[in-house]
Amino acid sequence: MSLTGKVALVTGASRGIGAAVASALAAQGVAVAVNYFGSEAAARAIVQTIQSAGGRAMAVKADARDQAQVVAMAAAVKAELGPIDILVLNAAVGFPMAGFLDYPWEAFEAKLLGELGAAFHGCRAVVPQMLERKGGTIVAITSGLARNPGWGFCAHSAAKAGLEGFVRALACELGPLGIRVNAVAPGLTLTDATARLPEKHKDAAAAHAPLRRNGLAEDVAEAVLGLLQTGFVTGVTLPVNGGSYIF
Ligand SMILES: NC(=O)c1ccc[n+]([C@@H]2O[C@H](COP(=O)([O-])OP(=O)(O)OC[C@H]3O[C@@H](n4cnc5c(N)ncnc54)[C@H](OP(=O)(O)O)[C@@H]3O)[C@@H](O)[C@H]2O)c1
Repeated sequence: MSLTGKVALVTGASRGIGAAVASALAAQGVAVAVNYFGSEAAARAIVQTIQSAGGRAMAVKADARDQAQVVAMAAAVKAELGPIDILVLNAAVGFPMAGFLDYPWEAFEAKLLGELGAAFHGCRAVVPQMLERKGGTIVAITSGLARNPGWGFCAHSAAKAGLEGFVRALACELGPLGIRVNAVAPGLTLTDATARLPEKHKDAAAAHAPLRRNGLAEDVAEAVLGLLQTGFVTGVTLPVNGGSYIF
C-alpha cells in the first residue's frame, strides 16, 4: 500500500527511533510532523533535512503526556499539513531502574500514567482526524520487556504491557471505522536511551540474538513502515529484536 501523500504525526521524533521513523516516512512521500519535547534543535534539523530533499515536514512541541498540549499539537498539524492519517506513538516516557522492593510508588505511577496517558491522549486527539479521512493507521512502540522482562524494569514492563493491551482494545473498536492499530516491540536498540548501558551488556545481547547484533533505530523504522503498508493486519505486536526472544 503506497503511503505517498499521507500525513503522519510521530511523537518523540527528535531523536532515536522516532527520528528514524520520521525520516523513513518522509522518504516514502509522507508529510511528517516531528514532535519534540526538549530537543527543539534536533527536531528542526530533521525537518530541514526532509524539506531540503523536497518533502513536507513540521516540528511541533508538546509533552506527549499532557492532554491539552497533545490536542493543540494535533490541531496545529492539521492546520499545516492536513488531517492526520498515521499516528506513531513513540515518545519515550522515562523511568528509574530499581528492584521492585525498592521501587518508589510515585515513579511507578508516573511511568504508568505517562505511558498510557500519552497513548490515550494521542489517539483521542488524532482519531477524529482519521475519521475525516475515512481511515487511518496507528502504530505504538512497545517493548520486548513487556513480555520478556528483566530485573529493574517492573514499571517499564507493566506500562508497555498495558500499552499492548490498549493497542488490542483499540484494534477491536476502531477496525470497523477503518482504522488499524498495531504495535512494534523493539529489543535492545542502540539509541540515546541505551547509550549508558555497559558495552559488555550490549555485546552479550548481540551474542544471544540469532541475528548476532544489536538493533538499530532504522530496524524499528523499517518494521513500522512494513506494518503501515499492510492492509489487513490489526491488533498485532511485531517483535524487532533479531530473534533474541520469540513470541
Ligand atoms: N532503545 C531501546 O532499546 C528501546 C527498546 C524497546 C522500546 N523502546 C521504545 O522506543 C521508544 C523510543 O525510544 P528511544 O530509544 O528512541 O529513546 P531516545 O533515543 O531516548 O529518544 C526519546 C525521544 O522521546 C522524546 N520524548 C521524551 N519524553 C517526551 C515527552 N514527554 N513528550 C514528547 N516526547 C518525549 C524525546 O524528545 P526530546 O529529546 O525532544 O525531549 C526523544 O525524541 C520509546 O517508547 C521506548 O520505550 C526503546
